[in-house]
Amino acid sequence: MKKLRASVRSHRKQPANPKKRGKCARSSSQAKLSAPDGQAKQKDEEFLQTSVCPYHLFRDMTDVMTFRRNLLSWYDQEKRDLPWRRWVEEEANVDRRAYAVWVSEVMLQQTQVATVIDYYTRWMQKWPTLQDLASASLEEVNQLWSGLGYYSRGRRLQEGARKVVEELGGHVPRTAETLQQLLPGVGRYTAGAIASIAFGQVTGVLDGNVLRVLCRVRAIGADPSSSVVSGHLWSLAHQLVDPARPGDFNQAAMELGATVCTPQHPLCSQCPVQSLCQAYQRVEREKLSALPGSPDVEECALKTSQCQLCLPSTKPWDPSLGVANFPRKASRRPPREEHSATCVVEQPRTSGSPLILLVQRPDSGLLAGLWEFPSVTLEPSGQHQYKALLRELQSWSGPLPTTRPQHLGEVIHVFSHIKLTYQVYSLSLEGQTPATPAPPGARWLTWEEFHNAAVSTAMKKVFRMYEDHRRGTCRGSKRSRVSTPSSRKKPSRGQQVLDSFFQPNIPTDTPNSTAQ
Ligand code: ADE
Repeated sequence: MKKLRASVRSHRKQPANPKKRGKCARSSSQAKLSAPDGQAKQKDEEFLQTSVCPYHLFRDMTDVMTFRRNLLSWYDQEKRDLPWRRWVEEEANVDRRAYAVWVSEVMLQQTQVATVIDYYTRWMQKWPTLQDLASASLEEVNQLWSGLGYYSRGRRLQEGARKVVEELGGHVPRTAETLQQLLPGVGRYTAGAIASIAFGQVTGVLDGNVLRVLCRVRAIGADPSSSVVSGHLWSLAHQLVDPARPGDFNQAAMELGATVCTPQHPLCSQCPVQSLCQAYQRVEREKLSALPGSPDVEECALKTSQCQLCLPSTKPWDPSLGVANFPRKASRRPPREEHSATCVVEQPRTSGSPLILLVQRPDSGLLAGLWEFPSVTLEPSGQHQYKALLRELQSWSGPLPTTRPQHLGEVIHVFSHIKLTYQVYSLSLEGQTPATPAPPGARWLTWEEFHNAAVSTAMKKVFRMYEDHRRGTCRGSKRSRVSTPSSRKKPSRGQQVLDSFFQPNIPTDTPNSTAQ
């Protein structure tokens, strides 16, 4: 398991082409209204040098005011009661307020609000101040983060807290620019969210929800991950943010995207900015266009092939999608497939559940510092896997019994960019005297201790399979794709590899001759 590598993707910058001008003039109103600071400002200004058709802009200040007013009054009525919002409302100390927002925004990256609430509440109970978090151990942070995924987020948050306490006199940087510059793990979005929500800085934010709202209201169908489109969207976010209530405005835009302007089944009839939505108007127009004598209405004045923001001609309007024609879906590469074998080694006790062996992952890389059952990566060649697995087990637990590890099934877990299939085994050390205490980097835990340990969701799935097997039940799970030997039709590649080593007649090259 020490061999998992992170893939590196190239995000090549595509500079805007200032020569590419069509009928559309540069929008001066937008240039004036967009006022972010520093680097971001420079990028936005670069972007504004390009020509953009008014169809994709808010060129009329009345529309901007209507957008703000409608969105904020909707938010005032509909906003969800979320624990971090209470902190913002009730906390007078500005650094504590910033800390409360910072924690929530980091947890909310790639994770649903409903999942975050419980983690957030426990986190703030355990570490109510930056000083408390700064003095916590990484083990404690991983323990609390267990099951939330993307574990580097928790680690960086704690590094950030230490930096604020040890180097910045306990004061959180006050602007989006300095937050992004000085705090580990704080990118452009998180910096904008903290600055606007906690400090009232007039700066926009662009997360996945806001991106969807803006692409729809301004009919932006080009690839949102391109720098031209992303620059335009940031620029719109900065233009629209309400100077009187920037934090509420940004949260309202996110909330609208999360609850009304949803990816697949948007609730347009409940949308407070429906009257300003180009995507909605396009849907209505498409319905009418089938009728004779339908009026000419404003659309992008550029030809589709010239406009850098329109739906590309390769992805024409799909009537079945309605407003969900926007934004264009990013073409994602499928996750890389990897295979591992993992084994739950148990040590029986005279009473209670057996102890199980956990080992700690290295301090860096995927799932850094988390605990897992002893595991090995299965290479495509399939050579020496059996030996490797047994050696791994033996190195942690001492001599192994004559019985073979028992294959329990398969667990599939998709990390952000890796689809990892675990072949799950268990082995009881009955009659053996395991190495006690466990060597450094290993621990024997009770089942109860396992549930509170710093382990990943994948290991929780493995444990569930082991527990089910031990209890003599084999229930399926919706969340974990598990398959047991009896339920599997065709063995997977990883399983074939290992099976070949668990055949009784195949001599093994394991140094432990008893473990055949
Ligand atoms: N998603 C991320 N941050 C959020 C916030 N503050 N409010 C609503 N949704 C969010």
